[in-house]
Amino acid sequence: PFPYYERKRETAPVYYDEQSGSWHVFRYDDVQRALSEYATFSSHMGGDDASGTGQLFSSSLIATDPPRHRQLRSLVTQAFTPKAVDALAPRIAGLTDELLEGIADRGSADLIKELAYPLPVIVISELMGIPPQDRERFKRWSDVIVSQTRTGSASENHTAAHMEMTEYFLALIDERRSRPGQDLISTLLAAEIDGQKLTVPELLGFCALLLVAGNETTTNLIGNAVLCLSENPGTMDRLIREPALLPQTIEEVLRFRSPVQSMYRMAVAETALGDEVIPAGAPVVAWIGSANRDERQFQRPAEFDIDRGQNRHLAFGHGVHFCLGAPLARLEARIALEALLSRLPGLSLDQEARLERMESTIVYGLKALPVTWQTA
Ligand code: HEM
Repeated sequence: PFPYYERKRETAPVYYDEQSGSWHVFRYDDVQRALSEYATFSSHMGGDDASGTGQLFSSSLIATDPPRHRQLRSLVTQAFTPKAVDALAPRIAGLTDELLEGIADRGSADLIKELAYPLPVIVISELMGIPPQDRERFKRWSDVIVSQTRTGSASENHTAAHMEMTEYFLALIDERRSRPGQDLISTLLAAEIDGQKLTVPELLGFCALLLVAGNETTTNLIGNAVLCLSENPGTMDRLIREPALLPQTIEEVLRFRSPVQSMYRMAVAETALGDEVIPAGAPVVAWIGSANRDERQFQRPAEFDIDRGQNRHLAFGHGVHFCLGAPLARLEARIALEALLSRLPGLSLDQEARLERMESTIVYGLKALPVTWQTA
């Protein structure tokens, strides 16, 4: 998509697409405004989407504007602060070791399947108190729901997955109501806003959002990072010697191959953006993936450079909706990469395999990541 973004930034940075009836925004400053000026660009999309996913998310954090948004978000911020998340590091490292232990002797594997995919699913399942035996189902629903965002149309498969997931969470919520634990669902059940408990749709929205928002995105961050490093063997060697450079490397991967390429908003009132005037009620697509390559913001944006001084990418959004899970995603990526570099010597892409990107305009990542390494 990157040459296309570049053309758009030059020739039509705020662009009306007649076919879809939506406005597309490509430059860094404009994308930042669309993401953060919530009084003008609302996150509330309405819940009348026939597939039901719209409905499920319509009462969740990501689709709510302030002041309700602030109240909902404050219920879960504690669980996702850098400090709270750091406490998970030993568990994440243990899981990573377990997953790599199983493949270390093989010398080749699909890293998406073996590591990047299961790791975030297990971590969020544990935070939410999902019993291990239910993880498989949970993963399947999450897949089906994300694949709908890829194609934009609701399949039968999708509607079924959506119903199953709703039923599952309803049962889990009931169970936690009678036997609360240390997990996020129990926290949400106990929470009150102005003396009122969350409604069942709000609880469901939270569960579904945490399930969908954190999994595939983190999988793709890890996968995209391995791809970036395979293309830059010098950087990979440097990181093996100096793992302390991993955090800035991960920020550069987030900029260079952003796992979330675009986010939606709705113009609340007529608004001037760039040289255009967006009418009230119009859907707006903010192209994060383009903003992160804008030459007005970044020097040599098409270069992967872990030594970039200022890297104010928008991969986690901007403003009040800034990704709640950012500290967790960063930690998982750092632990996963550190383990890959130290445990799989000579890690490189399988030269024979063809890389395939997922078909999506929202999520950016590889379907599979076949790699090889040296075994003893
Ligand atoms: C919001 C990206 C991982 C939970 C967002 C937004 C972006 C984003 C761009 C802003 C949405 C908007 O402005 O409308 C990413 C990326 C990730 C990642 C690239 C991984 C590399 C996670 C994880 C979790 C998570 C691990 C949870 C465990 C959320 C939630 C929101 C959010 C709950 C909504 C926040 C709000 O509306 O206030 N994420 N995310 N994300 N993310 Fe993430």
